[in-house]
Amino acid sequence: MTRLSEIPRYELLDQPTLLQRLQRTETALHRPGLYVKRDDLMAIALGGNKLRSLEYWLGAARQMRADILLVAGTALSNLCRLTAAAASMAGLECLVLHNAPNDAAARRASYLSRIFGASVRYLGSINERERTQRLREAASELARQGRRPYIVGEPALGALGYLRAAEELSGQCRELKTPIRHVFLPGSMGTTEAGFLLGNALLGYPFEIHLVSVEYHEAELRERVRTIYQAAAALISAERVTYDDNRVRCHMGFRGAGYGQPTPEAERAILTFARTEGLLLEPIYSGKTFACFLELAGAQQLPASEPMCIIHTGGVPSLFDQFECFDTVPLDPSDKARRGGSDVRG
Ligand SMILES: Cc1ncc(COP(=O)(O)O)c(C=O)c1O
Repeated sequence: MTRLSEIPRYELLDQPTLLQRLQRTETALHRPGLYVKRDDLMAIALGGNKLRSLEYWLGAARQMRADILLVAGTALSNLCRLTAAAASMAGLECLVLHNAPNDAAARRASYLSRIFGASVRYLGSINERERTQRLREAASELARQGRRPYIVGEPALGALGYLRAAEELSGQCRELKTPIRHVFLPGSMGTTEAGFLLGNALLGYPFEIHLVSVEYHEAELRERVRTIYQAAAALISAERVTYDDNRVRCHMGFRGAGYGQPTPEAERAILTFARTEGLLLEPIYSGKTFACFLELAGAQQLPASEPMCIIHTGGVPSLFDQFECFDTVPLDPSDKARRGGSDVRG
């Protein structure tokens, strides 16, 4: 019987992330009890959800005495940036593979990984399946050379980081007069979501979880989360805590045309939170998730007696490479009439 405490973990985060009240948003919307958990503010490499998972991936890498981490993603990938940083802290080499051409835009997007000392390879415009194949080939090649590579990203192990985040938030709730009831997360590949759901189940369901899809249709999102949840539960011998599909609400109206595709709601949410709370979001994950949070809070859809918390999963550094956003909502308020945009505070 394996317990969570027996799974190797390399500590990257030594304190809970900030739980911050969104006071100006509460006033503007006449809705009390709005919080953000700042997983975008961590001491390493500007933070982000992947650092929690990296504690377990690094734990596994060190247990197998790996000497190089391999990771793959788009040129804007937060996972690649944070893996590069964590590898340097753990004294490991890091090889990053991007499915992007070796052009100025990709080199600029992966600039931070290079600052952290990673070797970066640009594989050209290939799809995710080919990228995974190339990642395995790179690992085999390194192993033939006598190296000990570890491929970062195994979802069930990574999910354990967010199991701990659910415990952390529940601990922070003990200091609140009215504990948080609703928790909002981006719905994407499923690692973060499954871990948080499993943590919630182990705690006896203190939270109602809302996933805001930024990538998949509902059936696929649910299936991904369920699969990772069950595998993560098996890792810590917690199979008795079975997955309950009714314990998660999926919000499908904020995805727009799909992953990475801009939406006016997300662009408005970015400007609203920047201009009222001084909070930076990015368009791919947090922009869409905060847009949903804002709409539900503003429409008073959830009882005012049940505080709502959104987990800011980070990714803000990629904002600097997405100048093309704010296509639909003017960045400069004086552009309003010319571009026919709507009022960001509306
Ligand atoms: C900033 C940010 N938020 C959310 C996610 C989604 O996390 P997951 O892949 O665990 O669903 C990612 C994934 O890359 C991310 O970079």
